[in-house]
Amino acid sequence: MIKKYLVIGNPIEHSLSPKLHNHWLKENNINATYDKKILEEKDLQSIIYEVKEKKINGINVTVPFKKVVIPFLDELSPEAKDTQSVNTIYFQNGITIGHNTDIIGFELAIKYAKYDISGKKIFILGAGGVAPSIIYSLKKMKASKITLTNRTKEKAENLKKLFPQIELVEWGDIKDFDMIINTTSLGLKENDKVPINYDQIGSGKFFYDVIYNPKKTNFLFEAKKRGHKIENGKMMFVYQARAAFGYFTKAPNARDGLIPLINKKVLQLLEND
Ligand code: ATR
Repeated sequence: MIKKYLVIGNPIEHSLSPKLHNHWLKENNINATYDKKILEEKDLQSIIYEVKEKKINGINVTVPFKKVVIPFLDELSPEAKDTQSVNTIYFQNGITIGHNTDIIGFELAIKYAKYDISGKKIFILGAGGVAPSIIYSLKKMKASKITLTNRTKEKAENLKKLFPQIELVEWGDIKDFDMIINTTSLGLKENDKVPINYDQIGSGKFFYDVIYNPKKTNFLFEAKKRGHKIENGKMMFVYQARAAFGYFTKAPNARDGLIPLINKKVLQLLEND
């Protein structure tokens, strides 16, 4: 039987997940389709039911459903539970499982960038969908301090409930840091600017942007100009997808799933948009 995978979100038009997964499915001779589907929150329950009925074999979840999908799932992995964030859903031993591969995606992207997080002070901009996964990952990699700021204070405070160790500062305030991470959507549009004073930040810092399209946001551009190390979110995206592919292809024994290749061809697939 032909297998069916989906990425769900709203908006979803710009998702590159289908390109990546379809490439890997083909490369591994798996008879399957991977499509994107735009949804409303009210459609979540029925789409998860299709996973139970084996009409859909796996789902990736993106903004704004990573948290609100949780009540419809039978079980969460410890990572999904601790971050209250699910980006990968599959069916195993009669139940639907929600997992979070953004965490391992971020961790492997940092390794790829050859940066050592341990003992570092991290400053996070934004409290959107991917922030809890990044905090979880930073803790795992033994960051010494995590400070976060968000325009809407309430969202930052909700994150502090999940991760009491983080320090919150007002939007616009900058704390001393070794690494700064943009998790806001500022940078997606051409004229977007993250409101920080680049000339007040010392030298030799690491600027990381979760955004990968455009390749170099204003945030990364300004940092590069001043000699800081920079990295965009492309490898995080690729590694979270690779981990999800592993779970999708080997249920009921998902942990031993296929690990598809990340090579030049794969990286080029994401360049053409
Ligand atoms: P969601 O919040 O639905 O998960 P997201 O794209 O993952 O969506 O997150 C958007 C992030 O970008 C939020 O931190 C948001 O800040 P608010 O919580 O205050 O909305 C931030 N963001 C988006 N536009 C912004 C702007 N113009 N100025 C500052 N922050 C902005």
